[in-house]
Amino acid sequence: MSTVTEAQIIEALSLVQEPDLKKDLVTLAMIEDITLDSDNNISFTVVLTTPACPMKEQIKQSCIDSIRSHVPDAAAIEVKMTSKVTSSCGHHHCNHERPLKQVKNIIAVASGKGGVGKSTFAVNLAVSLAKSGAKVGLIDADLYGPSIPTMFGMLNAKPEMLDKNLVPLEKFGVKLMSIGFLVEAETALIWRGPMASSAIKQFITEVEWKELDYLIFDFPPGTGDIQLTIAQTIPLSGAVIVTTPQDVALADVSKAVSMFRKVNVPVLGLVENMSYYELPDGTKDFIFGHHGGEIFARTQGIPFLGEIPIDRAVREGGDIGTPYVLGHPDSATSKAIYRASMEIARRISITNAAPSEELS
Ligand SMILES: Nc1ncnc2c1ncn2[C@@H]1O[C@H](COP(=O)(O)OP(=O)(O)OP(=O)(O)O)[C@@H](O)[C@H]1O
Ligand SMILES: [Mg+2]
Repeated sequence: MSTVTEAQIIEALSLVQEPDLKKDLVTLAMIEDITLDSDNNISFTVVLTTPACPMKEQIKQSCIDSIRSHVPDAAAIEVKMTSKVTSSCGHHHCNHERPLKQVKNIIAVASGKGGVGKSTFAVNLAVSLAKSGAKVGLIDADLYGPSIPTMFGMLNAKPEMLDKNLVPLEKFGVKLMSIGFLVEAETALIWRGPMASSAIKQFITEVEWKELDYLIFDFPPGTGDIQLTIAQTIPLSGAVIVTTPQDVALADVSKAVSMFRKVNVPVLGLVENMSYYELPDGTKDFIFGHHGGEIFARTQGIPFLGEIPIDRAVREGGDIGTPYVLGHPDSATSKAIYRASMEIARRISITNAAPSEELS
């Protein structure tokens, strides 16, 4: 038996491709802490770009297979899997001076039309990403109808100040900031245009977010001046669009997609909410039309992230302040929301790894 060297391990691992990023693990600097003992036992760490990478087991197995076939004297192989979320900063769509170096990715959750379930999805996305092990924050950018305090059961909470900055509140593993924590609803109502956008910008620059993998931005409904200003001035990693299946909502979705494309923010995908109602006998009633969101996504070349049915428990979760995915973790709907959330994280890591010219 000859002694196995680190160079042999690196060589074998350089033959393993990251399936999404289409490069090998060594080139992507995803291998750390290689150790070898005198009996040729090997251990190393694979650093993934999302905490709940769906390819985790596949990548791990490919590492073991490659070492087994290229390093015949290898004894036991221990592969540790960890993650370090990549940042969109430095990317071509992030050409702003980054106000917050410790916030790796800012994700907008937007829609063309109001009341389609943006805040509901934003809350459940934030909680799902936190559950997967990521550090997550959530901003309620809806100055005129903040809903995050209600949806997190924190109606009377007030954030503290630290060195002139606000300290975000925290619940269910998610850091939170909302205009609803700061002023009475009537006060925000008189804010218009520039004042509203600058208040929203302060949510990024004057809040002690500390280190975050994902900061979710629950956009106000519509595609007016305020939304455009936020999309232009905040360094967004990407936008997730929420819609209901009916035509009127889809017509407005086109405007939202165009707005993000105009300011070079990648559209990460489309979620169809209130897709159908499941009757007691299991049949689906497509109240607002059939698969409108999926068809729209396909024609626009946008990834379709899945459908969420109309479910009383989803609405109740928002009203009682326990996000649905926490109250009903094993339901098919929670699994669909979790899958969509992991797909968003995956799309962000692909976008961050792509050379600038590949994005349009
Ligand atoms: N899948 C669903 N099933 C049942 N009720 C839902 C579902 N999604 C959202 N709702 C309910 O619909 C209402 C509107 O949802 P939400 O506040 O999330 O929409 P929004 O797009 O953020 O609205 P706005 O444009 O006012 O910000 C809420 O009462 C919410 O609980
Ligand atoms: Mg909302």
